[in-house]
Amino acid sequence: MSNAVGINKDAEKRTLSGMRPTGALHIGHYFGAVKNWLDLQEEMRCFFFVADWHALTSEYEDTRRIGAFIPEMVKDWLAAGLDPERCCIFRQSAVKETAELSLILSMLTPVSWLERCPTYKEQIQQLSHKDLSTYGFLGYPVLMTADIIMYRPRWVPVGHDQLPHLEIAREIARRFNNLYGVFFPEPEARLTPQAKCPGLDGRKMSKSYNNGILLSESMAEISPKIKEMLTDTARMRRNDPGNPENCNLFPYHELLTAADTQAEIRAGCTSASMGCVDCKAILLKGLERFLAPIQERRARLDARPGLVEEVLAAGNESARAEARKTMGGVRELIGF
Ligand code: TRP
Repeated sequence: MSNAVGINKDAEKRTLSGMRPTGALHIGHYFGAVKNWLDLQEEMRCFFFVADWHALTSEYEDTRRIGAFIPEMVKDWLAAGLDPERCCIFRQSAVKETAELSLILSMLTPVSWLERCPTYKEQIQQLSHKDLSTYGFLGYPVLMTADIIMYRPRWVPVGHDQLPHLEIAREIARRFNNLYGVFFPEPEARLTPQAKCPGLDGRKMSKSYNNGILLSESMAEISPKIKEMLTDTARMRRNDPGNPENCNLFPYHELLTAADTQAEIRAGCTSASMGCVDCKAILLKGLERFLAPIQERRARLDARPGLVEEVLAAGNESARAEARKTMGGVRELIGF
């Protein structure tokens, strides 16, 4: 059996995260998650996966779209700059060991931990048009724990919304270690800095609101959307001063525009020396600069059909090799 210190030394340099396949990625996904992953792939051993089993927890009634979303999402990841030479990109359901680990963990997870998970209660209410009174949906955090601890990482880059799940994962890992011997490092959330990337209409950027900018969109598609965006609605005439804090556009400048130009825009807006049309033109330039390398990589991917599938096949293979090692240890510890 390995000792706790040895485990943690290796774990410090490992990270894992996953995303449910919900369709094309928008820039909110980019600034909220993928950008963080790009930094991590330079620093440590990374595992990034498509959480297709997790998609099933809420989409079990209509599973047709999940399959098509998987290569689409992986292609977006690669276009954004994830490098399969540097990280393991795989599909959750390709590693059957995860189901075994999840089952074992479910035996030692009190139902009360799951029932009191705030995301559980929230989602049941929010998605009231779906029947989520299932065993699988209640067990979402158990499966997520298996996803994570299988690869024994210390760091799990996630947004704030996932913190309750990470807390449960730590508790389950601790409980396993107490029962059978210290084996799993306790994973820790590595919070994605709260990047403010609202939708074009100021609400949360979301596929279902159709208020996003997709990583796969061309400038010809994006440009009219930016031109239609509402800015500070109190700024009725060109000569009225505006307030960037009340403008849907300004958060995008904060993500995409150099700090000195941002300061110029702020000064120009509040003094009415710059109009919204000019401000939008600067943003469009910024978006073009940001998207150019992504679109270039996408074009190269488009020229190599089958590449996404190859990347996944190789990633699945190395993820499985890791999972087999972990499960060898788990079975030994529980005496099976
Ligand atoms: N629950 C995560 C989300 O909705 C997706 C996910 C599943 C995940 N398994 C994970 C994230 C493991 C991090 C680690 O975004």
